[in-house]
Amino acid sequence: MRVVFIGDIVGRTGCEYVAQILGAGLAERKPDLVVANAENAAEGRGLTRKLAELLYDAGVEFLTLGNHTWDQKDFAEWVDDDKRIVRPANYPPGTPGQGYTVFRVQGKSVLLVNLMGRTFLSQLDCPFRTLDRILDEHPDVHLVLVDMHAETTSEKLAIGWAYAGRVSAVFGTHTHVPTADAQILPGGTAYITDVGMVGPRTGILGMDRESVIRRMRTQLPTRFTVASGPRQFCAVQADFDNQGRAIAIEPWQVIEPGGL
Ligand SMILES: [Fe+2]
Ligand SMILES: [Fe+2]
Repeated sequence: MRVVFIGDIVGRTGCEYVAQILGAGLAERKPDLVVANAENAAEGRGLTRKLAELLYDAGVEFLTLGNHTWDQKDFAEWVDDDKRIVRPANYPPGTPGQGYTVFRVQGKSVLLVNLMGRTFLSQLDCPFRTLDRILDEHPDVHLVLVDMHAETTSEKLAIGWAYAGRVSAVFGTHTHVPTADAQILPGGTAYITDVGMVGPRTGILGMDRESVIRRMRTQLPTRFTVASGPRQFCAVQADFDNQGRAIAIEPWQVIEPGGL
């Protein structure tokens, strides 16, 4: 089974670039499942229904989120209507939306989990105990895919190693900068510390660089907007055997030509 996982998509421009790249790339790569992190789709802040539809039309089948989950104020009102969306599972019990979902691909059951780290982010429930509970409740799934949305490398590596051989993949998201450590951990767990982002490469993490620099220099409240200009597409492609063990993981990255 082949899975394509796309890193944090920034802004409408990032969503449109996903559509452009998948338009040609899916026929060539033929994945059985496409998942993307969409926490920055709406101008860097959360997800709207319209942009979710744009991504589904592009070929993305499930969307994960992160610390920007609640930035769109009506999101909590409609998220429960769309079972293709998964937000971090370690938000407190009773939070709208779902922290994981189970579905079938090619006759096999797939468990998709979104977790969030706690270092430099909100103090959510323990991601380890949360994942333990979810795995205990789903002993018979074939493939377990985890989006570990975290600021620090160590927290992502810790999840990778703690669940090596117990989950099929740990895809790190949130930093928007792809890491060069895609690897298969012992027991067949595909791992990368950060997949990277889809969005303008002319900005800072996809946002207009002048506004980011202004806020850092002055500490004044500054509204960040999505940068314009050429974009990058960062994803990984991972292959799994019939036991749900990873046999390959490789980055799929495209740089749109153009000046900075
Ligand atoms: Fe992000
Ligand atoms: Fe994030």
